[in-house]
Amino acid sequence: MKARMTSCGNWVLERFPMSKLWNEHMAQYYAPKNFNFWYFFGSLALLVLVNQLVTGILLTMNYKPDAKLAFDSVEYIMRDVPWGWLVRYMHSTGASAFFLVVYLHMFRGIMYGSFKQPRELIWIFGMLIFFCLMAEAFTGYLLPWGQMSYWGAQVIISLFSAIPIIGDDLSLWIRGDYVIADATLNRFFAFHVIAIPLVLLLLIFLHIVALHEVGSNNPDGIEIKKHKDANGIPLDGIAFHPYYTVKDLVGVGVFLFCFASVIFYAPDMGGYFLEHANFIPADPLKTPEHIAPVWYFTPFYAILRAVPDKFAGVIAMGASVCVLFLLPWLDRSPIKSVRYRSGIYKKALFLFVVSFVALGYLGTQSATEGVTTASRIFSVIYFGFFLLMPIYTSWEKGKPIPERLTEQGSLEECIPKIVDTFNEVTVKKPIKAADGTTAVKLRPNPSGIASVLIRFLKRLKASLD
Ligand code: HEM
Repeated sequence: MKARMTSCGNWVLERFPMSKLWNEHMAQYYAPKNFNFWYFFGSLALLVLVNQLVTGILLTMNYKPDAKLAFDSVEYIMRDVPWGWLVRYMHSTGASAFFLVVYLHMFRGIMYGSFKQPRELIWIFGMLIFFCLMAEAFTGYLLPWGQMSYWGAQVIISLFSAIPIIGDDLSLWIRGDYVIADATLNRFFAFHVIAIPLVLLLLIFLHIVALHEVGSNNPDGIEIKKHKDANGIPLDGIAFHPYYTVKDLVGVGVFLFCFASVIFYAPDMGGYFLEHANFIPADPLKTPEHIAPVWYFTPFYAILRAVPDKFAGVIAMGASVCVLFLLPWLDRSPIKSVRYRSGIYKKALFLFVVSFVALGYLGTQSATEGVTTASRIFSVIYFGFFLLMPIYTSWEKGKPIPERLTEQGSLEECIPKIVDTFNEVTVKKPIKAADGTTAVKLRPNPSGIASVLIRFLKRLKASLD
């Protein structure tokens, strides 16, 4: 039996470079040995991609892309198809998980300067992936044909009509009708299930080919290929397989735990992952009171609303995404990792994160005067981070960069500290029950929480200096 399997294996190897590919990209792909948890998000993005593809195929088996049937077919999947509810929640939660994972993955790239020379193409492919992901999420959201699907698409497509001269014709062409209708649903379905996924798969392939050509960056932002041993293996590198395949499995375990918790206990995440209005069938005659996109679009939506003129708003929203493309050329500092960069860069990065999160929150709120003013302030900070970058990064005086990778405490080594912090912020209190028995309950400890917060703020301030 063994001999037959070996000869079968050899038969394939003589015709297909399986072991060559495996060695080049896994067993003899030498990755820097100091990857931290931020490096989980690339492999997690791949995992979520597979989840979306598999659950998407299963949903398509029972979904009807017809304006009269679409909403009911989703209800049918939820109620009558065996395990349909699970497949649908895995897909809808997967969409939010995809953006969460990809945002963290992109932030890691910004933090460690992974977009800089020689990795500009990895970044460009990544940004094209991000565009496709947005298009995929937008087309997918119309399919359940709920109120928010309908009116969300109506708002976004009508933005195109703000473009001078061709605007009205363009939005009519995208919709395929004078309003969002069956023709729109049909074409969005075609894009969502076949056209965009194909492009996405191609781009992800190119993203990884480009990565493996130049090699991975790392939290120190040092090129490990500069120091090699006699066999040409980087001294600071370790084989991706088995070391990082095993390490990534830890990330997968933690991710699946969180993912399953959302699916089983909060699949709509209080309206953030599946909006409440989307449980009502689309009604072209009744506009919902408050139209807001799903959370992952809200930072850009807040920028759109912050600008008083519709066309200028559309340009600002487009620019807020496109400006990320230019990052490799906006950042003039030769230092890659935030670890060795100056306080001014760290403060700018900190403000960028605050503005992105704040815009994300503001985009979920009704456009009151206060919300609009705050959105304007944070939009200025958001754009300021990018547009002033050529200036403040050319002034930068960073810290000395070590020649070789440094050793930093791993997450596992932090566990005792996490336990200590947990003990500090909680207190055990005896509580008497109605039947006279006493139970010890864990309660928040205000003074402990205050001292942990003060310590955290002090460390944050010190790290920004
Ligand atoms: C479907 C979405 C994506 C998938 C499946 C994906 C996959 C991966 C994988 C597997 C890696 C190597 C492992 C790692 O470094 O974590 C990687 C690296 C990288 N990705 Fe992505 N990626 C995606 C989206 C993006 C996006 C949207 C960007 C940025 C615009 C991006 C930028 C990068 C960069 C710069 C690296 C190199 C990181 C380094 O070496 O430090 N990726 N990606």
